[in-house]
Amino acid sequence: MLSKDEWFETICASYASPPVVFNGRSLPGFPSDLIQSNTTGQAGVDTLKEAFVFYQDCINNFKSLGAGIEPHHHLLDFGVGWGRIARFFLKELPLENIHGLDVMNEFVEICRQTFGSDNFNVTTPFPPTLLPAEKYNFIVGYSVFSHLSEEACASWMQEFHRLLAPGGMIALTTRGRNFFDFCEGLKGEGHTGYLDALSRMFEDFSAARARYDRGECVHSNSYGVSGGGAMTSDFYGETFIPEPYAKAAYSQFFMLEKFLFDPSRQTHPIMFFRKK
Ligand SMILES: C[S@@+](CC[C@H](N)C(=O)[O-])C[C@H]1O[C@@H](n2cnc3c(N)ncnc32)[C@H](O)[C@@H]1O
Repeated sequence: MLSKDEWFETICASYASPPVVFNGRSLPGFPSDLIQSNTTGQAGVDTLKEAFVFYQDCINNFKSLGAGIEPHHHLLDFGVGWGRIARFFLKELPLENIHGLDVMNEFVEICRQTFGSDNFNVTTPFPPTLLPAEKYNFIVGYSVFSHLSEEACASWMQEFHRLLAPGGMIALTTRGRNFFDFCEGLKGEGHTGYLDALSRMFEDFSAARARYDRGECVHSNSYGVSGGGAMTSDFYGETFIPEPYAKAAYSQFFMLEKFLFDPSRQTHPIMFFRKK
């Protein structure tokens, strides 16, 4: 049995010198560094490090919340991208039990090819999906509820309730309060592109922070912060979900079990939910 660090090294080796065989199968390959950077801001070992922190937080917290991952479980990676996060769960689950969903056809094709699995599917920006009810024990989504509009988040939570098996768990990241400060700090620094757009996404950052502090979901779809391609500004931008909102907004369907944010370790807070 590989230790956690050995597993991280194994995934890194599958990037640096593929193929790497694990449990009799080659680990998934990678798209170009450019595609990795365009979707996650970094490539190679750096982008894998961020993914590994999230993966470990999922494993540890699902377990401490009494819902450890077992080999017969099914996991859905929502907003799977090119499969950066999903591949880490190959330590706990057989390939057949790992599933992915994304709005970008190009990313789903990359996953289908690199994982050698047809468990990856394209979705419309809003549910429903054609996926079967109550099949999945876990749904994870890294850097997706940090972008979807309030309405899109609410619709997906309702769909997740349909998709999850009884007792199923969710781990979703969102933007943390410190991201307001980071973006405001970019103002007047001469940035271009996405960083410039972030610095302009709120006319008044103090007002946006105050809304967050009152427990409101804060979303901006101003010019330059929608993702491009299928990620249009009618549902995609930058999203900050505070803990009280996460607790109340989805309470018909889910218990918020934990809102985890340690900025010294994590770039995004994680919301852990349990299906009611
Ligand atoms: C910032 S990327 C993160 C990708 C991946 N989770 C990771 O961490 O590497 C956001 C992903 O969410 C996908 N996405 C955006 N809106 C979506 C929606 N409404 N439904 C499903 N996926 C969506 C995007 O296509 C993109 O792959």
